Amino acid sequence: MRMCALVLALMTIAADLQGQVTKQPFGKTPEGTPVDVYTLKNGALEARIITYGGIVISLKVPDKSGKSADVVLGYDSLDGYLAKGPYFGAIIGRYGNRIAGGKFTLDGKTYSIPPNDGPNALHGGPRGFDKVVWKAKQIPHGIELSHVSPDGDQGFPGTLSAVVRYTLSGKDLKIEYSATTDKNTALNLTNHSYFNLAGQGNGDILKHQVKLNAGRFTPVNDVLIPIGELATVEGTPFDFRKSTAVGARINDDNEQLRRGKGYDHNWVLDSGAGKLAEAAEVYEPTTGRVMQVWTDQPGVQFYTGNFLDGTITGKDRKVYRQRSALCLETQHFPDSPNHPNFPSTELTPGQKYHSVTIYRFSSR
Ligand code: GLA
Repeated sequence: MRMCALVLALMTIAADLQGQVTKQPFGKTPEGTPVDVYTLKNGALEARIITYGGIVISLKVPDKSGKSADVVLGYDSLDGYLAKGPYFGAIIGRYGNRIAGGKFTLDGKTYSIPPNDGPNALHGGPRGFDKVVWKAKQIPHGIELSHVSPDGDQGFPGTLSAVVRYTLSGKDLKIEYSATTDKNTALNLTNHSYFNLAGQGNGDILKHQVKLNAGRFTPVNDVLIPIGELATVEGTPFDFRKSTAVGARINDDNEQLRRGKGYDHNWVLDSGAGKLAEAAEVYEPTTGRVMQVWTDQPGVQFYTGNFLDGTITGKDRKVYRQRSALCLETQHFPDSPNHPNFPSTELTPGQKYHSVTIYRFSSR
């Protein structure tokens, strides 16, 4: 009997070390394609990810007293994501953030992405990677999603094979992106989770304290396209080198804040590209939750949910108002194909795109 209990205990520990991954159906798209939800569990952390858009639909994280809450915005069912999504939790591709006029030139040829944000193409065009059903398989501690985007998809050149691995281990939700192409193309992959560390739907994020390891940012024009400059944050409301409450300066009299309706800008990470380093830290004082963001990307889009306007009712009937969440989208700079002075987003055949971002959770 005692032996049995011991074996059972060892099995439970082994399962915990492995992390647990389970799969369930999550509805169908209007075309009839089945969508699944995968639940990743590791100790006190739990992430649920659907194959539609590779969306992180929930992320449960303990606070300083051990109480768990879901810290990402989203919907209770697939219908919500199908009907209206400001990219909640989704994989963004082929090109995160904006491309001016939806146009860029590569090897002397101009490519056009259908505009879906005023005059610009945003997050890969009208049917980006957030709106496709990814193929999924379980891997240790997580899932591997894959998608083949055909040549000319949303105007982008080349057949692009993309693989995104989500794993939950230790305190980390890790996202690993890989891709290959058969023609020269432009690529900028990210994830668009909306975080509220006090718990989703639980007020605004103005008291969240944010630190960004970046001495420069890319100022934008009135349609949020970078003007090309890498401006210093020194002496501006964009200086988050020391942890600062989001709300401390968000309403300052500042042209860039007016243009973004708050923060909606790309910060130029001090670590540069290609090396996994801490980009950001967010601390929520009432619950003590901390989220660190690590990436090997050269930039991060810090967005304060400026376009949320109370018209979306999300999970648990929570109404999402302006600033009810923040996003930290690790990325190459917006509109890079039109800015030769920005780190290149070109991917060529024979090259293997590979990038890692980690969201690390703790409390204090
Ligand atoms: C990004 C953009 C924002 C906005 C959101 C989605 O963060 O920079 O301007 O489009 O995505 O609403």
